[in-house]
Amino acid sequence: MRSSRLLPARPTKLGRFDVVAKIASGGMASVYLGRSSDQTREVVALKVMRGDLGERDDLLASMFVDEADLLTRLRHPSIVRTTEVGVDGAQRFIAMELLLGMTLASVYEACERRGTRLEPELVAWVGARLAEGLHYAHELRDDANDPAALIHRDVNPANVFVTFDGTVKLFDFGMAKTMMQTSAKTAPGIVKGKLSYLAPEQIMQLPLDRRADIFGLGTTLWELCAMQRLFHRDSAVETVRAVHAGKIPDVRKVAPQVSARLASVIQKALERNREHRYATADEIARALSEIAAPYAAEAPSRLSALLDDLFPEERKKQRGWLKPAIVPASPASLKVPQSKGPPPSR
Ligand SMILES: Nc1ncnc2c1ncn2[C@@H]1O[C@H](COP(=O)(O)OP(=O)(O)O)[C@@H](O)[C@H]1O
Ligand SMILES: [Mg+2]
Repeated sequence: MRSSRLLPARPTKLGRFDVVAKIASGGMASVYLGRSSDQTREVVALKVMRGDLGERDDLLASMFVDEADLLTRLRHPSIVRTTEVGVDGAQRFIAMELLLGMTLASVYEACERRGTRLEPELVAWVGARLAEGLHYAHELRDDANDPAALIHRDVNPANVFVTFDGTVKLFDFGMAKTMMQTSAKTAPGIVKGKLSYLAPEQIMQLPLDRRADIFGLGTTLWELCAMQRLFHRDSAVETVRAVHAGKIPDVRKVAPQVSARLASVIQKALERNREHRYATADEIARALSEIAAPYAAEAPSRLSALLDDLFPEERKKQRGWLKPAIVPASPASLKVPQSKGPPPSR
């Protein structure tokens, strides 16, 4: 599925940043560790969009910057901080705070390997943090103070980080137009997002609103409680069919330790008819926060301990990324650290 032809060549510099090493490559982009070339040597994560811009793509370049600029306005504890967006030569990049932690997808997989699971209260707490971040993004306004109508479009465990200090961060906001296209190839009908986490209306390519993200959150929470995939099937066709019409079991059937309250919140997020879903992420955030309230004080330390337990080597390894001893790119220093994320095809 990866076509190297579309992958940007590994850059050594992007805007004011030196590219130090590759962190991950996903479907849409490669992510690098970067350092500003000035004295601060600020460390960032640099996401480079796949697909070089052609020589006459000034319009596309400015569209990208306009659209991605919205990301730099997102300032919320549950959302990765984007510091700047830019175009350097043919490459479009986004500079973000470097997150030290693991994706929820990696957490899920590690639990699966060990035959363990997250406590339902912790799932509720993580879900509440995510819903708060989503609501904030959904309410974002543009320069003219008009609603920006930002929708994430791809809420799934691979786009959520839990950090070693016990925070939850949503990242990889999907943008409408420019992220997926180059001048040579626009990709009509491509739906951004992992099939098995899309809302039914996304698969039908209906005009979307914020409620699509609530469905993705519902699927994510269902799976974390159940330690089973909800809609994922062996083929894309079967997965699409499952999103449309597959059974959505009460999560307590598979995970009896989940409370009736939490199960019904998840169920409501997973209503196929969006009119029956939570109308805003704030509503589900409140419902989840209430459930997690008795647990909220200890949740960050629980999360942090869970990561150390599941990934004993990672904290130290990722801390190493912050050491100034890592010098900027000479070809030999561009070693690829082991990818933190799940395989891109998940
Ligand atoms: N801010 C960040 N800090 C650290 N790692 C990151 C950051 N952003 C992305 N990554 C890494 O890059 C991977 C892919 O990033 P993502 O934005 O989800 O790209 P894609 O659009 O290809 O899915 C993530 O799974 C994660 O491992
Ligand atoms: Mg992603």
